[in-house]
This record gives sequence, C-alpha cells and structure tokens, in this order.
Amino acid sequence: DIPDSDVTPVAGRVGAIVSNIRLSGDLPDSTIARLEQLLRLHKVLFFRDQSHLDDAEQERFGARFGEPFAHPTQGALSGTASVLDLDTRRDREPKAGEAGGARADQWHTDITFVEAYPRITILRNLVAPASGGDTVFSNTVAAYETLPEPLKALADRLWAVHSNAYDYAAVRPHATAEEQKQFARQFTSTVYETEHPVVRVLPTGERTLLLGNFVQRFKGIARADFQKLFALFQDHIQAQENTVRWRWQAGDLALWDNTATQHYAVNDYGDQHRVVRRVTIAGDVPVSVDG
Ligand code: SIN
Repeated sequence: DIPDSDVTPVAGRVGAIVSNIRLSGDLPDSTIARLEQLLRLHKVLFFRDQSHLDDAEQERFGARFGEPFAHPTQGALSGTASVLDLDTRRDREPKAGEAGGARADQWHTDITFVEAYPRITILRNLVAPASGGDTVFSNTVAAYETLPEPLKALADRLWAVHSNAYDYAAVRPHATAEEQKQFARQFTSTVYETEHPVVRVLPTGERTLLLGNFVQRFKGIARADFQKLFALFQDHIQAQENTVRWRWQAGDLALWDNTATQHYAVNDYGDQHRVVRRVTIAGDVPVSVDG
C-alpha cells in the first residue's frame, strides 16, 4: 500500500505528491488508513492525473474519510449532496442557488464560522488557467511551533469569534461594489458566529493556530489590539517557510487536513477560466489547551 517511494514531499514543512494511485470510493480500507497517516505527516496531499473522477466519485472518495459536509449557505452542485462548484465564469453572474465568488483569494481555513467545521477538504481541478491560479497552503501546526514560548503562551489563552459576515469590500477589492453585494447576499443568507480557541489541540496532540479571514475579533481584546495580535500570529502562518505553492493542472486533486492548514487561491489569472470542485468532510468541535 502506497510505498514511501510514491510519496514526494514538495516543500520542507508541508505538502507531498502521492503518485501511482487511482483515487475512487472503492479503495481498500488499508489505503484510506495510509492516506490518513500521510495527511497527519504532510497536512496536504497532491495527486496528478485524476481526471477519471466525476462529482459523484469525488464525493464517494470523500465519504471514505467521514460524513460529507455541505456548505451552510452556498448551494451544492445539482445532483450532488455536497459538491461546491468554484467556477470563475460564474464570478460575474452567479445564478440563483449557485455559488458566486469563485476566487478564494484570502488566507483561510474552510468554514471555520461553524462550531464543528470540516476536518478534511478535497479539491479537484477541472479547468486550470494556462498561467497563474495557484493555491498556496500553510501548515498551521508548524506556524504554532515556530512561535517563541511567550507568544505560544499568549496564543494558548486567546479565543476568537469567527463569522461569515465579514467585510467583503475590504477582502474582495477586485470585485465591483455590485459583485461584492451579490456575493455577500448569498454567502451570508444565514449569519453564523462561533467562538473557537486560537490554539486547537489536534487528536495527535499537536497544537495548531486556528485563525484566517473569518476571524472578526478576539474575546476580551479591544479592536486596535486585536488587529495587531491577529497580524502577528497570522504572519507566522503566511511565512514562506510554512507554505507550499501548488501549480494546478486539470485532473489534479488536493486533499488537505483542514484543521492543520490555511490556504490562499492566488488571483493572478485575469479573465482566464478556472474551475475547481470541493468536497468537505465533517469535523469535531475544537479542543482548546484546557481540554
Ligand atoms: C477554497 O478556498 O477552498 C478553494 C481554493 C482554490 O480555489 O484553490
């Protein structure tokens, strides 16, 4: 089952390519267990040449890791329970019930504005721009580990409020005011607000920084201080040494531990077409350092 020779780390602290595997919902349990082990180690796994997968098979593959988790406000692609379609051709004119805002050009962990946010994300590329449109991933466990002890101790004590009702004009400056309004209308059709510890303890015992663009404030901290503290911790997540940048080809699939990473979809490809489809798998309520 997946020998080490088929696993090639991409960057020093995060990401590995797994070769010679045809992903499907029918993989043996031992292969799924091996993928879980590789995920604990590398946080993000990349697979080339998976264009045999369709939406249903991506979902079936995902279901081997847990319960599929539909996005709380963005409709699932028709005919699927949970597949989120991120297609830049829809950026301009999202139709009713379809996801707009296909460019996730903010550092984030998926759907942290709900309590038990997804443990795993599976992203399949259907159309890649000829140039640009990479996704950058960060290892948020490595980010915590690189903090000096006094800052670890400070982060350990902080709690953050995450919400999907964030400032769209500030974070989507490329979009017109009308596009921002339209995206916000759908994305916040239900407003969620959830408190999470800034440091989450994973089942492995690792500590991970739980931040990203859904964070609105830290509990008990004034706005000006929050902004500085947020930037201080978030900068460690965005440090080049903790990241890997993936250059997509159509047919690629990325599988990531959504509890140990953040990601950023680089918006540098203009009007070129880009389509990715996403399946998220249910997670647990985060455990803080106090248990
Ligand atoms: C996402 O944020 O889940 C999508 C990332 C991407 O489009 O590369």
